[in-house]
This record gives sequence, C-alpha cells and structure tokens, in this order.
Amino acid sequence: MPAKEKIIVALDVSDASYALDIVERFKEYVEVFKVGLELFIAGGPAVVEEIHKRGKKVFLDLKFHDIPNTVTKAALNAARLGVHMFNVHASGGTEMMRRCREAVVEFCLRENIPRPKILGVTVLTGLSQEILKGELGIQHSLRTHVKQLSKLSVEAGLDGVVASGHEVAMLRNHFGKNFLIVTPGIRTSWSPPDDQKRTMTPREAIREGADYVVLGRAVLNQPDPFKALELITAEILTA
Ligand code: C5P
Repeated sequence: MPAKEKIIVALDVSDASYALDIVERFKEYVEVFKVGLELFIAGGPAVVEEIHKRGKKVFLDLKFHDIPNTVTKAALNAARLGVHMFNVHASGGTEMMRRCREAVVEFCLRENIPRPKILGVTVLTGLSQEILKGELGIQHSLRTHVKQLSKLSVEAGLDGVVASGHEVAMLRNHFGKNFLIVTPGIRTSWSPPDDQKRTMTPREAIREGADYVVLGRAVLNQPDPFKALELITAEILTA
C-alpha cells in the first residue's frame, strides 16, 4: 500500500489559512488531514469544507464524550459535513457509541452519502500507567484498559480505535485485520516526545499493524516540515 494511504497529518494550528497552505504543500504525499480541537474551534466547519474542496479527506478528531443524545447529534453533523472519519471516547460507554453509530448509518443510507468511519478513543497517548492508576484510579494495567475499551468499541459496532503504537500488535492480534487502528504519538529519532508518553516511530507503528500513523509535531515543528514528511514517507515504505 502506498505510504500516502498510511499517513494522517494533524493540522494542529490555529490559523485556517496556514492549515490550508499545509494541505496544498503536502497534498501529493497525504490523503487524510486531521482537524482537531485547536483548528476546529478557530476555523469551524468552513475549514473542513476547504480541505474537501482540495480533494482531500478529513479525520475530524473532536473526541466526542457526552450523553448519548448529544454525541449522536454532533455525530450527525460530522456526517453531514462529509468527513472521512471521526472519533468518540470509548469511555463514554457502549450505549453512547452504539446510538451514535446507528444514527449515522441510518442518516447516510437515507441521504445516500458515504458513511464516515467511527473510531473509539482508548487511552490517550499523553497518559501513562502511573497517571492511569495514581490519578484516575484505574487499577488494572494500561494494556488491559486499552483492550477493554477496544472491546466496547467493537461491541458498539465502531470501525476501530485510536491507540498508541505500544498496543497496536496486541489489538491487531485480538481483533483481526479488518479492525481499523489509527496511531498518534508518533515520533522519529529526531523529534522530541513533547507531552506524549507512549510514543513510537512511524516504521515501528506500521510494522506493529497500525493502519494509519498520525503525524503532528514530528512534521510541523521541524525546521523543514516538507523534508520531514519526505523522510517519514521513505521510512514507511521500508516498514
Ligand atoms: O504533535 P503530535 O504528533 O503529538 O500530535 C498528536 C495528535 O494526535 C494531536 O492532534 C492529538 O490531539 C491527537 N491524539 C493523540 N492521542 C490520542 C488521540 C489523538 O495525541 N489518543
């Protein structure tokens, strides 16, 4: 599979026109761009529409986490925007996830539009075993927790999960090849971990079985982001 189908670039900037410049510069190498909280709050749905106009797909990373009715309504608006994928926190529970998926499936069939892929967020890559236990009071291991949240996502009918590279192999073995795994927290040998705790290189994450790697600061914070993207693309090709 070409490297460009494995890469998602996180447009983690506050200026919509800068984000669209990045899309223009990277579009030959990247199919899917991630719009998260920072850009969506600054640029709103218009920025998503502008990315679509440039022929690219959007992963709307707003990590919905609310009561089932609210998440379902937000999810329908994401589907209406025509995003390629969006996510919900699996810790919101199966009723929230199931109702959200059912409403989106029904809406897309009725409107005859492609259904966005829906991912469950497991344990954020910025969290560690110590934080999970010491602050959040979760007694079992981080891996067990990721597996449990992934199981809930599958039971609710979601397409897959967002998980760190450290859990990809376990999830791939357990849930099989059709389970979609998107992996953030990607760092190269030349990029610092920043606030991420469970990082992995692009090559390792793809080898472990990730369908997509999310590239944020490992690309955008580099002196030459385009060069960084080229190097990572070459690295993925050897995975
Ligand atoms: O810059 P960096 O590569 O760390 O950015 C990672 C991106 O992936 C951010 O936009 C972050 O919000 C997102 N993300 C994450 N961990 C998750 C889900 C999404 O870091 N579990």
